[in-house]
Amino acid sequence: MRLDWITRISLHNLRPLLSLFSADLAIDLGTVNTRVYARDRGIVINEPSAVALDNRTGDVQAVGKEAKEMLGRTPGNIRVVRPLKDGVIADFKVTEKMLNYFIQKAHQRRTLVHPRIVISVPSEITQVEKRAVTDAAYRAKAAEVHLVEQAMMAALGAGMPVTEPGGNLVVDIGGGTTDIAVISLSGIVYSHSLRSAGNHMDEAIMSYLKRKYNLLIGERTAERIKIEIGSAYSLDEPLSMELKGRSLIEGTPKMITADDGEIREAISEAVSTIVSAIRAALERTPPELSADISDRGIVLAGGGALLKNLDKRIREETGLPVCIADNPLCSVVLGTGKVLSDFRLLRRISIE
Ligand SMILES: Nc1ncnc2c1ncn2[C@@H]1O[C@H](COP(=O)(O)OP(=O)(O)OP(=O)(O)O)[C@@H](O)[C@H]1O
Ligand SMILES: [Mg+2]
Repeated sequence: MRLDWITRISLHNLRPLLSLFSADLAIDLGTVNTRVYARDRGIVINEPSAVALDNRTGDVQAVGKEAKEMLGRTPGNIRVVRPLKDGVIADFKVTEKMLNYFIQKAHQRRTLVHPRIVISVPSEITQVEKRAVTDAAYRAKAAEVHLVEQAMMAALGAGMPVTEPGGNLVVDIGGGTTDIAVISLSGIVYSHSLRSAGNHMDEAIMSYLKRKYNLLIGERTAERIKIEIGSAYSLDEPLSMELKGRSLIEGTPKMITADDGEIREAISEAVSTIVSAIRAALERTPPELSADISDRGIVLAGGGALLKNLDKRIREETGLPVCIADNPLCSVVLGTGKVLSDFRLLRRISIE
């Protein structure tokens, strides 16, 4: 009797201490950004998916933010690699190194007991890529590894009632891919992944400026232009921005001023592709689920959801309500974090 009382007291006291050492992690392995959610601690890592390598030895010089800073500015012996491209793993070895680094960093180098790791991966991942991701996590000392689909996680993280019967349409516009999915009863009823997403828009801006102004700009500048003055539908207040780059003709530094209309034109094809794919998804959705979607609306997640007036454009072209997830850049990792503490749900939806 007395022993039982003591056990209860000590367990009660120990619980906060144990959770402090909880090693379970949820990872969103994105083309542009990787995010890690630690159970009971929340998002502990939110960094670019980039690795700087020494060209001669192959040693890792920097990972994440530090590596992205080097992009376009490296000396000959260092190169910055983005191991994921278009939502798929382009370089296994480097992806493994990056995952390993982030997992160690999230664990703050503590000694851990049986961490469970859930990783959300692009929907069109191949068997070989699944193996590579899983092996990388096991090598980083995971005791259990589960893979889940990014689109499902985006919906869950955005707070959509995915486990209930009823249609949910989520559009996750990332850097490499836009994933469109219709979900009901924790299952994917329809899904489609397209290469038209954030990176594609940046490239479109680069080639537009080259064509129109003979101006060469870097990737990072293109992204900044998109974020600051890019839009998918005319703005109430016009925006403009001074852009610096290199003249294609003289080879010298050059500056021009671009406005929101020009950038809208530059990315219009990428935006139209996304809108058409959403319409195609609606056409292929069974009627009962369609009815739910028209009540609940379309939810946008991923960094691309923040493109100015994209929600307005989709609303205009589909006639449906559209809303942006609360924290679109983190929807996937937050959803994956929810699965981490719901083992039954995890069993139902993991894709191994
Ligand atoms: N305010 C903004 N306006 C427009 N685009 C934005 C904004 N903020 C971020 N982005 C874009 O969002 C993209 C990154 O989004 P996110 O982190 O969701 O991608 P990811 O998960 O790494 O990629 P993927 O899901 O395709 O693998 C980048 O292309 C970035 O330029
Ligand atoms: Mg993503």
